[in-house]
Amino acid sequence: MQQKIIILDFGSQTTQLIGRRLRELNTYCEIVPYNRFPENDPTVIGVILSGSPFSVYDEKAFRTEVRPLIERYPVLGICYGAQMMAYQGGGVVEPAPSREYGRALLSVVDSEDPLMKDVKVGEQVWMSHGDTITSLGEKYKIIASTDSVSCAAYRVEGNKAWGVQFHPEVFHSQCGTRILKNFTVDVCGSDCSWTPASFIESTVNELKAQLGDDKVVLGLSGGVDSSVAAVLLNKAIGDNLTCIFVDHGMLRKNEFVNVLNDYKCLGLNVIGVDASAKFFSELVGVDDPEKKRKIIGKGFIDVFDAEAHKIKDVKWLAQGTIYPDCIESLSITGTTIKSHHNVGGLPEKMNLKLCEPLRTLFKDEVRAVGRELGMPDHLIKRHPFPGPGLAVRILGDITPEKVRVLQDADDIFITGLKEWGLYDKIWQAGVILLPVRSVGVMGDERTYEQAVALRAVTSTDAMTADWAHLPYDFMAQVSNDIINKVRGVNRVCYDISSKPPSTIEWE
Ligand code: XMP
Repeated sequence: MQQKIIILDFGSQTTQLIGRRLRELNTYCEIVPYNRFPENDPTVIGVILSGSPFSVYDEKAFRTEVRPLIERYPVLGICYGAQMMAYQGGGVVEPAPSREYGRALLSVVDSEDPLMKDVKVGEQVWMSHGDTITSLGEKYKIIASTDSVSCAAYRVEGNKAWGVQFHPEVFHSQCGTRILKNFTVDVCGSDCSWTPASFIESTVNELKAQLGDDKVVLGLSGGVDSSVAAVLLNKAIGDNLTCIFVDHGMLRKNEFVNVLNDYKCLGLNVIGVDASAKFFSELVGVDDPEKKRKIIGKGFIDVFDAEAHKIKDVKWLAQGTIYPDCIESLSITGTTIKSHHNVGGLPEKMNLKLCEPLRTLFKDEVRAVGRELGMPDHLIKRHPFPGPGLAVRILGDITPEKVRVLQDADDIFITGLKEWGLYDKIWQAGVILLPVRSVGVMGDERTYEQAVALRAVTSTDAMTADWAHLPYDFMAQVSNDIINKVRGVNRVCYDISSKPPSTIEWE
């Protein structure tokens, strides 16, 4: 049985990071809203209470009774989690004389305490709080201090419960990983058995039990998540999985044929549907970005639904939903704040049971699972690509000719990034076809043709992004190649805007 640590989410921005750090320690964990502790789950081996934007005294603050938890499990409170546990144990939490943000050095450490094993005086920790614990209840004992915060960490004597006011999960806390490891491995007894291979083995078994002989359909997009979900399901149920890959005509150059071929080589039972004519005809004259998205989204659902109905007795719809999608979808009050990106609207339309085998994984874990499943690097390391594809990179209305021009320019840019060893250093890259014409000169002739913008960004999650500082020599070559080889383009620009305030896509 897979052991797990539960992270109770009180709304901190770093809650997901705590999850990532535990997974890096090969310990499986789940982030759940602060009021949804899984009471009857025998696999729970410990609990972490996250930080929060609230102060413990706020009327609206999220609260959980800590005592019943610390009677049953090892508990680690982080920042607000530590303050709430101290407050409920008779301590006092007050606004700090000056808000404490950024680095601080540990000045006192009780290295006899299991949480502080191998943590040294002078190590840097990262603070981010407006309140501070000014006194502790009976049985609460300080185990670490900094110059300005006497209670940087404490232990509840008689229980396996600790609180730290700093953030061990952030990269800048030098001893952070050590403290999380002391907690998960030494205190909670994690056997560190969570690996991509163990995930595959247990998920394949669970899928076999869940799906039996049922038939399942899955929409492939060419992206990492849906592809890994398909290979995993294929391993569990073989040809009872039918994959549908729809070409809406806005894919990259040759992508439909190449990716379809990759899927077949992986042994997937896949149907490729070229529906580009339908999409082109529905998009004639449409230049509003949201309308384009709606037309493509609805068209995709209709095509997928029609194909799926040709298969007899389908019971399940599988999706490559991953963990950040689920966390974003669920605010801590339980209401949906963002609908799933993948195939929004499909589950409602199709009235099938939903199967999401990757819903507990982070993006880099999905890649690790894909690698373990033997998938080729070019599928696994693929940049994210928007569902509506090149439609949102052609500003204004769409014609097959504009798509052809953009595909050719995009192909030169992406192939160049790969040849120059730059592709894997970048989160996402592409070309945008601008609705402007400019004058140029080629040979003896004056030209009046279109301009394109190159976009390449670095990022870790697409929430924020910076423009990639590509080498000038590379950009010179790409610009030259595009202007010389792509009929219809006579000017190339490079987009040097970061997100925010810009976005990654132009529409
Ligand atoms: P923005 O432009 O909002 O993009 O900075 C963030 C990430 O989302 C992708 N994106 C989309 N993906 N359907 C998708 O499936 C869409 O309509 C869509 N719009 C943007 C974008 O490529 C980037 O990775």
